[in-house]
Amino acid sequence: MHQDIAEILFTEDDLARRVGEIGAAITNDYAKVADEGIVLVSVLRGAAIFMADLARAIELPLEMDYMAISSYGNGAKSSGVVRILKDLSSEIEGRHVIVAEDILDSGLTLKYLLKNLSSRGPASIEVATLLRKQTPAQAKIDCKYIGFECPDEFIVGYGLDFAERYRNLPYIGVLKPEIY
Ligand code: PRP
Ligand code: MN
Ligand code: MG
Repeated sequence: MHQDIAEILFTEDDLARRVGEIGAAITNDYAKVADEGIVLVSVLRGAAIFMADLARAIELPLEMDYMAISSYGNGAKSSGVVRILKDLSSEIEGRHVIVAEDILDSGLTLKYLLKNLSSRGPASIEVATLLRKQTPAQAKIDCKYIGFECPDEFIVGYGLDFAERYRNLPYIGVLKPEIY
């Protein structure tokens, strides 16, 4: 275990199993509409690892596209400011969109994103979030697929960063308080 990690919450095996289950559920739910076009949208940078694994767990044809929006900067707390750093490459009008997010915390990122993407006229839009944090006053976001509920602690790994570090840890763990 990395020296900056106090405790592992989800092991590499836990993550692989749960991502596999979500992929299987999506395969089942979208099989009938797959020929209308499924677009898996990842929110860079945190969700890139989750989306890469999730995409390979879905046994349907799909497109992968990326958006970069940021609300955190390098701090531990959300600034509440959402910026589009990179937009999608493809049109999503008439397509079935699944937004893959690594974590739902305050909910501001997904709230903004769902409003923005819905305005483009997708056939449907759903959220797959690997983690939903038990955050007080979280925005109400309808997530069809949730990997795990997690405690309101500073967690990193499997895409989740602190000041751009720890994204490449293969597990998700709690950062030692003296680090942030
Ligand atoms: C993190 C995380 C989610 C978002 C969740 O992204 O990856 O996208 O915060 O927080 P919220 O529900 O309070 O909006 P961040 O803005 O840190 O950018 P990153 O993905 O590049 O790390
Ligand atoms: Mn993010
Ligand atoms: Mg971040």
